[in-house]
Amino acid sequence: TAEAPIVTAEAPAAAAIPEGPKEATILFGSQTGNSQRLAGRLADKLKGQGFEVTLSAMNKFKTNKLKEVSYLFIVASTHGEGDPPDNALTFYEFLNSKRAPKLEGAKFSVLALGDTSYEFFCKTGADFDTRLAELGAERIVDRVDCDVDFEDAAAAWIASVNGAVSTASAASAAPQGAAVVSQAAAVESEYTRANPFMAEVLETLNLNGRGSDRETRHLELSLEGSGLSYEPGDAVGVYPQNDPSLVEEIISFLGWNSDEKVVTGKAGETSTLREALLHHYEITVLTKPLLEKAVAFSGNSKLADLVKPENKEDLKAYTNGRDLLDLLRDYAPWTIQAGDLANLLRKLPPRLYSIASSVNAHPEEVHLTIRKVEYEAHGRDRKGVCSVYTSERLQPGDKLPIFIQQNPNFKPPVNSDTPVIMVGPGTGVAPFRAFMEEREESGAAGQTWLFYGDRHFVTDFLYQTDWQRMLKDGVLSKLDVAFSRDSDEKVYVQHRMLQNGEELYKWLENGAHVYVCGDEKHMAHDVQSALLTIIGQYGGKSPEEAAAYLSQLQEQGRYQRDVY
Ligand code: 2AM
Repeated sequence: TAEAPIVTAEAPAAAAIPEGPKEATILFGSQTGNSQRLAGRLADKLKGQGFEVTLSAMNKFKTNKLKEVSYLFIVASTHGEGDPPDNALTFYEFLNSKRAPKLEGAKFSVLALGDTSYEFFCKTGADFDTRLAELGAERIVDRVDCDVDFEDAAAAWIASVNGAVSTASAASAAPQGAAVVSQAAAVESEYTRANPFMAEVLETLNLNGRGSDRETRHLELSLEGSGLSYEPGDAVGVYPQNDPSLVEEIISFLGWNSDEKVVTGKAGETSTLREALLHHYEITVLTKPLLEKAVAFSGNSKLADLVKPENKEDLKAYTNGRDLLDLLRDYAPWTIQAGDLANLLRKLPPRLYSIASSVNAHPEEVHLTIRKVEYEAHGRDRKGVCSVYTSERLQPGDKLPIFIQQNPNFKPPVNSDTPVIMVGPGTGVAPFRAFMEEREESGAAGQTWLFYGDRHFVTDFLYQTDWQRMLKDGVLSKLDVAFSRDSDEKVYVQHRMLQNGEELYKWLENGAHVYVCGDEKHMAHDVQSALLTIIGQYGGKSPEEAAAYLSQLQEQGRYQRDVY
């Protein structure tokens, strides 16, 4: 399965067996699949040099093999409040424990993925880097920390590592002739994150009923002519457009001309200032690097104070929930020119959405479920960039730049007889529509159980008719719902799980896989506590034993989460 460690051995040429280690271990900790993809790219490069490469998710790697590694490369993302990804957690804990072996003689390097708008930027990668050195391993290439726009920095790290190992192993005179192995990359569409497909919008529907306080878009996009395909559990990356009225306000605040030409691409591509701010740059998030760079253009000395290390907490409080327009207003006057933007602002990053359809049920289409995000902060209305763009401005016939982001960490069981428990309140239900449509198509036999929740039954039951059809045709065996604002007391999905705890535990004992999708901070956390309670109560286990049971499920790929 996609979850198993992929071990590839390239035999050296028969005539000349190279001396010395030509073995490399590449471990990734990946939540959305980016780290995994980059680790795979490094693996291809090293195999091209004749290395025997072990490529594995951290948690799948047998830690007793750690003592034997000669080259160890780590690609790890950080999410939430500096947390390691799910498939890195047990390895992270092991390495930071007293049980970790000494690693003298091993050479290593770390690639860290993160987001500078978070306080604990790249913390997981940084922790690995520090700890490996502490254990005695030699850092052969400095750690690279990537911001959301990671492609160039990651490519540079891969090239440095590739260069460093070739220098190191040249000493052992590896026969270059033997190193010519096929770069057996999987057949890919020409459309990628770096070269998105312009997908036509076929349909856009509001899934919430009249009177709901929420708006959730069901988008149907055409993949015709793209060569793109996907599996249940995968996601789509969408390049949105910024809010035109925010763009206008920024331009007019600075007294600039919307039609002025500015450079937006590395190859010197230009566009108008309006286009640049609509399509190319992030203007709704303030990061520490942005404020540090902005100091040079601000005539207000308070900005220089704010970025001083001793004012770290003030900086955090200021950047939280504010955007570029706030910064411009609060720290005027400015000497900034339109041409300075490229150095100041991050590229507008794509947003990932879990796919809500099965391509077998809807050939050459992909469906997304996007909830509109709007709120008030610091005295102004704030709009989620992509959700408001797709809700308010995207029309059938328009083209949307997208790519497919495979997610090997959220996959239905390989064996279709395996029972499946799905927990997906709100838009977290999206991938389960994909899972279930796929089962409808393939006629899978295993039992399925969906826990769904939202605010109100009448207006917020997303895809209700789909679930009813699936219940009727037997593809969906059980459905439990929690509508949190229909009664005085809040009921959430985890309450339904606890009420059904005995049966849920039986399902687990019968080999069920558990999938959780949606809000990480509150929902997924509380759902995990509910699972631990159920395992403890109906399995007669202590809290430690219940935790071990759940970790084991996770390691076996039987507890998978797609949380955000
Ligand atoms: P609420 O907004 O009424 O609090 C989808 O957003 C659903 O998830 C809503 O019904 C929401 O309820 C609910 N929700 C909010 N916090 C939750 C939590 N900690 N656990 C589970 N569901 C939660």
